[in-house]
Amino acid sequence: MNKQECIQRTADYVKMLLEHDTSGHDWWHIKRVRRLSLMLATQEGANPFIVEMAALLHDIADEKIAGSEEKGMATVRAWLTQLPLSTDEIEQIIEAISTVSYKGGHGKKPLTQEGMVVQDADRLDALGAIGIARTFMYAGSRGHSMYDPAIPVRETMTKEEYRYGRSTALHHFYEKLLKLKDLMNTKSARKLAMERHRFMEQFLQQFYREWDGHDEDVNR
Ligand code: ADP
Ligand code: NI
Repeated sequence: MNKQECIQRTADYVKMLLEHDTSGHDWWHIKRVRRLSLMLATQEGANPFIVEMAALLHDIADEKIAGSEEKGMATVRAWLTQLPLSTDEIEQIIEAISTVSYKGGHGKKPLTQEGMVVQDADRLDALGAIGIARTFMYAGSRGHSMYDPAIPVRETMTKEEYRYGRSTALHHFYEKLLKLKDLMNTKSARKLAMERHRFMEQFLQQFYREWDGHDEDVNR
């Protein structure tokens, strides 16, 4: 089995697992992160094989999908060990995956070029029009409301508060999304993040206009 076949088999495996997800982590998210990661890898000189494998598997390891971080990583490791890969390759893929998640600002900083690229790609997919759509999908899947002005925006929070605390889709913009542009690892991702950030700001402006009825004023 060559490298291309390893990638194809991994893609088929992940597709089977995430095809029916409706919480913003579906197979199309993986495809976009894979494409973005490969684009960034070319620009940044990261190892494309490690990057593509990590991008494909990054959400299998996510605690929201696997139940716990340990369980998720064990699934990824079990998958990788039955492929014809060196121990070194397996460790590089796992290292890159281990730093992807945001966790309310408690995530780890990537130590490798490959980790930086995949983290940036996953975060870029949380921004812009797609990011907005995914946020409302996720909030819906958790039974959160779209917006509630009575709930305060949390400035700091523990990992647990971020994951399980009371929040709304609109709050997620302030608690994570609007912070991401300053947290990009690579220059190419930062540029894309700025564009997507501006689009979210416009969206929020219009959202509040409609929420408050300002656009309904015929005399404006
Ligand atoms: P995280 O590391 O923050 O859990 P994910 O990438 O796994 O992020 O989250 C999947 C999608 O759901 C992303 O688009 C993310 O911004 C969004 N999301 C995560 N947590 C929330 C939340 N509490 N409310 C709304 N959207 C969320
Ligand atoms: Ni993801």
